[in-house]
Order: sequence, then C-alpha cells, then structure tokens
Amino acid sequence: MKINLFEPYIDEAEEKAVLETLRSKFWASGAGIGNVAKFENKFKKYVNADECLAVNSGTAALNIALSLFNIKNCEVIIPSLSFVSTANCVLQNGGIPKFVDIDKKTLCLKPELIEKAITKKTKAIIPVHFGGFPCDMKKILSLSKKHDLKIIEDAAHATGASFSKKKIGSHGFAVCFSFHPVKNLGMPTGGMIAINHSNAKQFKNKIEARRWCGITNRNDDRYEVEEIGDNYYMNEISAAVGLKQLQKLNKMNSIRKNIAKNYEKNLEVNIKMPFSQNCAYHLFWICVKNRKLFRQKMSEKGIQTGTHYKPIHTFSLYKNKVKLPITEEVGKQIVTLPMHPNLSENDIDKIIKFTNSFAN
Ligand SMILES: Cc1ncc(COP(=O)(O)O)c(C=O)c1O
Repeated sequence: MKINLFEPYIDEAEEKAVLETLRSKFWASGAGIGNVAKFENKFKKYVNADECLAVNSGTAALNIALSLFNIKNCEVIIPSLSFVSTANCVLQNGGIPKFVDIDKKTLCLKPELIEKAITKKTKAIIPVHFGGFPCDMKKILSLSKKHDLKIIEDAAHATGASFSKKKIGSHGFAVCFSFHPVKNLGMPTGGMIAINHSNAKQFKNKIEARRWCGITNRNDDRYEVEEIGDNYYMNEISAAVGLKQLQKLNKMNSIRKNIAKNYEKNLEVNIKMPFSQNCAYHLFWICVKNRKLFRQKMSEKGIQTGTHYKPIHTFSLYKNKVKLPITEEVGKQIVTLPMHPNLSENDIDKIIKFTNSFAN
C-alpha cells in the first residue's frame, strides 16, 4: 500500500454534512449566510480574532488582505521559501515583493533580517508560519509598531498553531488561512481572513464587498457597487465540511504532533524540523544532500515525499539578484515526509526506517 504525503481526515460526520447540504438545494450565496456564517463565527471564537471572513481559498484571503491598504509601488517583506501565492498577492495589488532570508532552524522569516531590509518604501510584512511552525510574532509585532508596518500573516499551514499561548489568528492585522483539502482543516476549497484591529467592523464591510463582486448595502433586490470585487466567497458545501473539521481540529493536530515528535526523535538526519507543542505540523521537513535520489528510493518503497518549496525568487516572474543563502541552500535539499492523521504506526515506522537508510 502506498503511503501518501498528505490526506484529508474524514468520517461519517463530513459525509452526512455534505449530503444534507446537497439535499437542502442551498449550495452557495455571495451574501455569506447559512453554513458560511456559522463557520465564520465558530472559527472566530476558536482563534479569538476580532472578525473572521470566509473566502474560497488561501490565495483569495491573501489577495483581499493586501488590498485593504494601499501598497502601490511600496515594498512588502516576504520569505522566498513559500507557495507562490505569498508573493503573487503583492504583485496583484501593485506592490514590490522584497525577499528576506529565513531562520535555519524554523524556516520562518528572521526578525533581525527583516529589520535590516526595512526602507522608507516598506509598507508591510508577510510572515509565513512555515509548515505550521509559528514565527516569532513578539519580535515581528514590535517591528511593525516601531516602523509603522502592517502585518499580514500567511497562516496557510498554521490552523491551530499558537504563539505565546494565543492561537495564530489573534496576532497580526490580517491572518490568512487556507482550507485546501490537505491542510490541517480541510474542505473542498476555502480560506479565511482573521482581522485584529480596533476598527475591525470597517474592514469586515470592505472584505464582504471584495469577496462578492463589489456588492454592498444589500436590501432585498436593491444593492450598490462602489468598487470592483472578485468572486471569492466560500460555498455552503465547503463550509459544512469545515464545521465538522473544526470540531476535530484539536484531535487531528494532536495526532500530527505525535507523528512529528516521533520523526524528530527517531530520524537520523542532521537537519530536520524541530519539535514544538505550538506547531500545527502541516508539513514535516528534513534536508538531504541528494534529494532526487532520496525521493526516488522512497517512491520505490511506496512512500510519497514532496518538495516544499522551490524558492519563489528563482521563478522567472520574480527573478532578481537578491542573495538569500539559507533559502537557496535549503531550497536545494528540503524534502517533506508524509504527514496526516491517517498514518498508522506501521506507516510511521516504515517512513523512519527508510528515511534513515536513504538520507545519508
Ligand atoms: C504558504 C501558503 N500560502 C498560501 C497558499 C494558498 O492557499 P490556497 O491553495 O488555499 O489558495 C498555500 C497553499 O498551499 C500555502 O501553502
């Protein structure tokens, strides 16, 4: 039996919820009512944010979050070791991505390097909680205060992660989650923007319009459109699955943590993801010298592995002369091992055994 890199974790609860929603004949609404509103409320309580607005992907969440203030021709500090949406949202909104190197141990942005990269043109920072490992939000928030910068967290990997006893989702101005099927909380397609601001209601109204084609002030058949918006709203079937997944999120994340603890203890590789109770472990990564050969040998044993990620600054769209020594070194060696709550003890033993024989 093949061991998959990622898998959603579902049972009869999700099956029943999908069927009920299908049979209700109410599948979607740009108004964000029904299951979508219920999911937003429950998620808001879970992360303890001022407001939470559901959208149809992590990419949509980032695109809208960056549109909430004007970044035209301004620099936005981002890591390069991430999924390309982390940088695309900056270009989408007319900003300039400024790549900064990462911490060797956690692969998250290094606050000392962020501070060095800040210029008069810097407007925002997008910390990525890499693999679910929380960035140092204390230092990043203090940089944002000192230099008057907005913090948009890319928490695509970090649903359920914490920093300083507070859930990720309650720190930065906007925190963007992905609920892609293989994420910690999975659904057919979905994302969330958590807002933390004294004027959160005002941002809520803006996001509601921008996720539904610019529509505002709706009253029965009357409504207004004052600015352009996208079709970014979440559907009812995804939200129905999300409600069930949220109920078991802590359980799923604690299974992920136990797997990570086992990997961290028993993998005989020099460079591997550290263990932390605060991490959500969407990914578990190691570094190997010969990635191609390692991945091929693991595949021959029926174990799927991944490469997360090819550094964004090496894509032709982003190619620039920035030097990011740690990102570049890690980018050549990083491999992700299977990580999901369906892994059996046998699977985990097999993954550890073959990683130890092929990694060195
Ligand atoms: C770090 C990161 N940011 C953003 C995204 C985008 O999320 P989505 O696939 O839901 O659009 C992903 C998805 O894999 C991601 O890994």
